[in-house]
Amino acid sequence: MNDPVTAETLHRMKRESRKIVAITAYDYPTALLQDRAGVDIILVGDSLSMVVLGLEGTRPVSIEAMLHHTAAVRRGVTRAMLWGDLPYAAYQENPDVAVANARRFFEEGGVNAIKLEGGRAMASVVEAVVAAGMPLVGHVGLLPQSVERADQFRVQGRSAAAAEAIIEDAKFLEAAGAVALVLECIPQQLAGLISSLVAIPTIGIGAGLACDGQVQVIHDLVGLAGGFAPKHAKRYLDLAAQLQSAVEAYRDDVVAERFPTTEQSFTMKGPEWDAVRRKYSS
Ligand code: KIV
Repeated sequence: MNDPVTAETLHRMKRESRKIVAITAYDYPTALLQDRAGVDIILVGDSLSMVVLGLEGTRPVSIEAMLHHTAAVRRGVTRAMLWGDLPYAAYQENPDVAVANARRFFEEGGVNAIKLEGGRAMASVVEAVVAAGMPLVGHVGLLPQSVERADQFRVQGRSAAAAEAIIEDAKFLEAAGAVALVLECIPQQLAGLISSLVAIPTIGIGAGLACDGQVQVIHDLVGLAGGFAPKHAKRYLDLAAQLQSAVEAYRDDVVAERFPTTEQSFTMKGPEWDAVRRKYSS
């Protein structure tokens, strides 16, 4: 239970039909708790862009911001396998730049694997990253980095042609050497079929129960994503309401002089204070 999770652990879990638990984290204290809770994979997703930085979509998040948060998460993780998302800007230029940027996630962010979006369309980048010896996680189905407007966040692969394209992308990624696959927002039958066609673990988000594991954005699970609640997420907590009422109670205590009390205050010894008071009181 306490051995660090590796790609081989995930492959064994798939072979033994044991479900894999993945979740996103963007900071040290959250990662520490998730690791203690026994999740198998912690992903520093580029959803950071939206849920933490308040940017529109996942594209604008910078490489530096991703590295900054990834390094913080790394400090909280001892057992889970740490995955980092390669942000859009990191791999659009050419495969050499992609490899150099991916390497930074291992060296500066301490990740155990890097995830990037797309299948055959990203062949040259996928092949270059794998050839450079970096464990790579594929991502097919809904590709948030390709979404330009909010209404494009929708289920993919509902037509036979679209489903076949996703299957071929998944097979390509396995053949190219990916260690695992994220399947995002695709019909559950399609996710089940892909999971049976590839030997590498499939980690679903909005892809049903037949995947080898599940991943969710922590903000969706604990109710921190504002009013937005994706259909595929289950809410375990209403943290936004609890945080807001804690801050309101603090504000009320300060205004009414109920905080701080002597319990939260510090005092000087009598003679020391008398000396200061004597000098400064007129
Ligand atoms: O960025 C992200 O949060 C993701 C999801 C698949 C969890 O990539």
